[in-house]
Amino acid sequence: TIPIFTTVADYRAWRRAAFKAGKTVGFVPTMGALHEGHISLVRESLENNDLTVVSIFVNPAQFAPHEDLATYPRTLPKDLQLLEEQKITSKSCGETRTPSAVFVPTVSEMYPSGIVQNVAEQKGTFIEVQGYGHQMEGKSRPTFFRGVATVVTKLFNVIEPTQAYFGQKDIQQALLLKRMCRDLLLSHPEPSNLHIIPTARDPTDSLALSSRNAYLSTDGRKVATTLWQALKAAETAWTEGRTKRECINAATKVVEEKIAQASKDGLEVVMKLDYVEMNDAQTFEVLEEEKARRDTGLVILSGALYVDKTRLIDNILLGDI
Ligand code: PAJ
Repeated sequence: TIPIFTTVADYRAWRRAAFKAGKTVGFVPTMGALHEGHISLVRESLENNDLTVVSIFVNPAQFAPHEDLATYPRTLPKDLQLLEEQKITSKSCGETRTPSAVFVPTVSEMYPSGIVQNVAEQKGTFIEVQGYGHQMEGKSRPTFFRGVATVVTKLFNVIEPTQAYFGQKDIQQALLLKRMCRDLLLSHPEPSNLHIIPTARDPTDSLALSSRNAYLSTDGRKVATTLWQALKAAETAWTEGRTKRECINAATKVVEEKIAQASKDGLEVVMKLDYVEMNDAQTFEVLEEEKARRDTGLVILSGALYVDKTRLIDNILLGDI
């Protein structure tokens, strides 16, 4: 069975031995409720590192007071079981590998000076990637990326990974953390060793896998792929050479049609589009209408949709990553 570390000290003893033995360590940080999306990151790490560490920690600092911290799905025994089942044979060296360790700290272990939920009262040490946390997801969740950057810095300090794996599902998070590694001159991981892995989707309707999908009702699940379809419509418009406004209009039209259809079908579900936007992947700034077509850089087409109370996110990259 995989060793589980709940304290920083115990993990560090294990990590020291790995350093001594010259082993590379791949790291997959998660908040648990593991699904195929998380597992695709684990498998990528297993393939490319001698050892793989997964962390499971529901980080209070990235939830706003009105958000779902209390109800966030916690399925530790199932998560551990799923990790136990992962086994790959490395294509490069033929070695059979399974996850090497799971780090499951308590809140007080990760926040030894305590954590204050009320943002106005927050005192203490935080990491903030200024100018990169207020667009897209950060517009709807203003303190989210500060919480993420802070906890991931702490986790990197503890785990000391050679390489780290993040999902494209949360593209702003992954790019912001890459930027943070560069700005803070981190060596574990080196910025170029922070990898972004494509979004794993449900094979039936391409819904992006997410721990929050567990909140969906039967009717909610039936319409949950609406955001993906809306983004695909915008992507098609983009490749046909349409303006940014036309692309966004194509996306919102899909959502409106799906809302009308759901009501016709008598589904008991309320859908509400939070946003669809196109942003420069370098600066995260909203793409300016007149520059949009000329800008040849990578563009993030992203959105968030409420299906009842569940907030679903998804994105498509326009251009090569
Ligand atoms: P969590 O939502 O559990 O996601 C952990 C990692 O899995 C993230 O890098 C996320 O992008 C990736 N992931 C989630 N769904 C995915 C999918 N369908 N396909 C591919 N990758 C997917 O993201 C967090 O936790 C937290 O913010 C964390 C980084 C752990 C900091 O607390």
